[in-house]
Amino acid sequence: MQVLLEMYVPYYAHLPTPGNRALARELALLQHTVDNVIAFKRARLKQCDASSEGDLLTQLMQAEDAHSPGKPLFSDRELRDNTLTFMAAGHETTSTALSWALYLLAQHPSVVATLRQEIATHLQPPLEGSGSEGEVRSQPGTRANNQPLCDGRAA
Ligand code: HEM
Repeated sequence: MQVLLEMYVPYYAHLPTPGNRALARELALLQHTVDNVIAFKRARLKQCDASSEGDLLTQLMQAEDAHSPGKPLFSDRELRDNTLTFMAAGHETTSTALSWALYLLAQHPSVVATLRQEIATHLQPPLEGSGSEGEVRSQPGTRANNQPLCDGRAA
């Protein structure tokens, strides 16, 4: 209904209806939250080497304008808008893909066995059960071992 109204009633999206006001409130909350994440990350990047941060936001913040080396490619506004896009694009898709994958695995025990075999081959133990985080990280070849830390703990 909202979509139809926006399509056929000029400036409907700008009217202070309860729905539009709620939308503006929620959007402001999301934007404020992402602004905080960006500010947090900026402060963090001052303290540690960016190469030890493996996340997408760091990559975007470190990206430089090809025509003006040293100049950030994205403004804070663009960082925020892109982060919101990634949040929206990445949440439902990833959770749905995982849900279906787990659902199908639950129905196909032979595939689970193959998957376990593959995990055992490529991710060395201890990934389940007893090992402490330090022990897991110290295992050569584990994914955990390759994850960067920037909080004083040894990787
Ligand atoms: C299993 C997870 C995911 C699935 C199945 C998925 C699927 C898709 C599909 C089908 C499209 C449309 C492609 C097209 O028709 O042009 C798309 C676009 C997009 N996805 Fe994902 N996606 C996933 C995860 C993510 C994540 C984690 C992010 C961000 C961090 C992301 C960001 C985007 C963006 C930005 C677009 C638009 C690209 C463009 O049009 O330039 N997606 N995705």
